[in-house]
Amino acid sequence: MQLKYRGYIGVFDSGVGGISVLRHLVKTLPNEKFVFFGDSANAPYGEKSRDWVLNRSRDIVDNLLDEGAKAIVIACNTATSVAAATLRADYAHVPIIGVEPALKPATLAPGVDRILVMATPITLRLDKYQQLARRWGADREVIPVPCPGLADRIERGDLDNPDVLELLESLIGRYRGEVDGVVLGCTHYPFIARQITEIVGNVPLFDGAEGTARQLERRLAERNLLTKSAGPGTVEFLSSREGDEELALYRRFFAD
Ligand code: DGL
Repeated sequence: MQLKYRGYIGVFDSGVGGISVLRHLVKTLPNEKFVFFGDSANAPYGEKSRDWVLNRSRDIVDNLLDEGAKAIVIACNTATSVAAATLRADYAHVPIIGVEPALKPATLAPGVDRILVMATPITLRLDKYQQLARRWGADREVIPVPCPGLADRIERGDLDNPDVLELLESLIGRYRGEVDGVVLGCTHYPFIARQITEIVGNVPLFDGAEGTARQLERRLAERNLLTKSAGPGTVEFLSSREGDEELALYRRFFAD
């Protein structure tokens, strides 16, 4: 049987957000082959039940592994919080890398004492984030801001739409000039980095993409799974939402 994605790295998210991670993965590992699956027909994940996100993540990972993927990147903070530990236990033979809110780099950055953490309601509610906040946020002021509706609006692709800006204003407008840094704890948010700094001020933003790329490289190297090819890698896009328009949107987000 011909496996369509043998030797590929499978990357998934609820939708376009994971492309902010994919860009770093490709930069770090330019010779690898990637297949990106965006579950846009089911986005957003961040307001669904934990069980739903777990089952859906498992289905997606099953499909990617059935097609021959050699490693999985969960390019979604929400799915990582819910499903990464279970999936790693279930598929111990495959490297499964997740992404988490970049609170550690934010707290290690000089002068960053008051930190906003923007993420989905699920991510901020679950133990994984609570532990992260206890570990890295103890001597900083860490302000979690659940952002229901935000990933959904980014998913529509029109990032300067008044809808996006009004929601952002209602979520973080009160912190204008009041914080030293912002953790983008959802992989959709790097696409509205400019709009966020226009509201809170010109402060550093932190996301988990770079750390995830380094982690993927380490995990592949450990298991001798890095590609031997010196030629340029490839990126393929798949979506649960039918139609060329969605894939064109993914390519635009990847190229921007
Ligand atoms: N991009 C995802 C995350 O990092 C999920 C956003 C959503 O679907 O709610 O959390």
